[in-house]
Amino acid sequence: MPSNRTRSWRAPGRVNIIGEHIDYIGGTVLPFACNLELVVTASPSVHASSFGPDAQPFVDGVEAALRAAGTLVLSREGTIASTIPVGAGLSSSTALATALAFALSDGAQPTPEVVLEAERIATGVSGGSMDQTAIIEGRSGHALLLDCATGAIDHVPIDDAIGFVVIDTGTRRRLADGRYAIRRAELEAGETRRVRHAETEQARVFAAVDAVRAGDVASLGAILIESHVSLRDDFEVSSEALDAAVENAIGHPGCRGARLVGAGFAGCVLAVVEAGAEHEVAALFEDAYVVTAVDGAGSVG
Ligand code: GLA
Repeated sequence: MPSNRTRSWRAPGRVNIIGEHIDYIGGTVLPFACNLELVVTASPSVHASSFGPDAQPFVDGVEAALRAAGTLVLSREGTIASTIPVGAGLSSSTALATALAFALSDGAQPTPEVVLEAERIATGVSGGSMDQTAIIEGRSGHALLLDCATGAIDHVPIDDAIGFVVIDTGTRRRLADGRYAIRRAELEAGETRRVRHAETEQARVFAAVDAVRAGDVASLGAILIESHVSLRDDFEVSSEALDAAVENAIGHPGCRGARLVGAGFAGCVLAVVEAGAEHEVAALFEDAYVVTAVDGAGSVG
């Protein structure tokens, strides 16, 4: 019996330590579910499901994807509250689609494929499966080493010596959805510099896993800086604001490396810092968050 009471579902944002623009070619990536989160509070509705006009494309996408997967869809109405900056590279839209999928199925954990399909319907953009898997399968204190070719997950403990800060440049993607699809097509077509990014990025992911486990902040930081240079010069998805934030962050002695996070073009930078220096590094910027790895999406209370 579907529940007829009001329930809340949370979905975290996604921070990708490393492995950018390789999920959709079956690469292995290293994201975590982070402590910025979105909460959907839903009550039964006698009308069509409604969570406000901004969310409607996602409601429609989630309903269609759930139905296609054979899941019973319920009519729900309610509210959305979120601390995940929108369009900033932290997967706010995947968090929204995931929490809605729980709410509209009254608590069935969605598969990453269903959420991916819901987002494709809502936005017209086909991404890889990294964000959905991190947001659903995340584990407190751990990153996910995710093989996007097979879906296999290895939960990697993040050593206590490592701190993470997300710096929001305040810039936002506009035509970026088009540019994301262009970059993806260029990589799939074998364009030399795009392929060089993908190959070197994949090697960096495997080097980073060892550093994350060992608490080797210096090595992890150096790997992130190499990743940023590759995303800037070979994949060409950086911006002046992102480059400046990376430079400013690594100017602080407690910060050992930084890079743009997510699809790029605008949004946020991830800085890897010595544990204990997080707040000092964050204080250098107008908008920055100390981030930690939390459990994946589920019910609240
Ligand atoms: C977006 C997509 C992901 C991934 C990243 C880049 O977040 O949704 O699937 O491709 O960009 O790594």
